[in-house]
Amino acid sequence: MNQGKVLIIYYSLTGNTKLMAEEIAKITGGDVLQLKPKNSDVKPKGFMKFVWGGRQVKMGSMPELMPYDDNFDQYETIILGTPVWASRYVPVFHTFLSEQKIKNKKIAMFCCQAGGSDGKTFGKMKGMLEGNDFIGEIALQDPQKKGLETAYERIRSWIGDILA
Ligand SMILES: Cc1cc2nc3c(=O)[nH]c(=O)nc-3n(C[C@H](O)[C@H](O)[C@H](O)COP(=O)(O)O)c2cc1C
Repeated sequence: MNQGKVLIIYYSLTGNTKLMAEEIAKITGGDVLQLKPKNSDVKPKGFMKFVWGGRQVKMGSMPELMPYDDNFDQYETIILGTPVWASRYVPVFHTFLSEQKIKNKKIAMFCCQAGGSDGKTFGKMKGMLEGNDFIGEIALQDPQKKGLETAYERIRSWIGDILA
């Protein structure tokens, strides 16, 4: 692979996106940045996550993030991973993309979702990341429920294609 140094940036509430991010890190040898909100008021267990999480998306919330290293100079490729909430990227990415000025990178995006498509997730992410080169995107359906091995295979083949 000839992708330069890779950084994987992700958020995950119930573990799907995390597993995919870790697999990508393993294949690429890339670094990982896990975005975390300061107040984790959306909990992974139970039905209320849909209420609170969905509400945050509808209100355009930008939850404050735990401090993170935002020097991305050393990376040539950045791979962003988000769950789909209400057909969009999660509020944590709303904060991140609003406070970051990522430019002149190769950008790839992946998402985990329950319904079969990314909805507006990738389109909206691209809108926040003008001035970069988009090299690929992939939507995975609830890997932990639908089959981890299939998801890992899709991820491996996708990474092979975009970073060839
Ligand atoms: C608040 C909330 C809203 C969601 N909205 C959608 C949606 O609009 N479309 C969809 O396909 N899945 C939706 N989901 C399901 C998640 O995207 C899916 O389960 C994903 O795999 C979760 O990723 P994670 O395990 O990394 O948190 C939603 C989940 C939550 C908690």
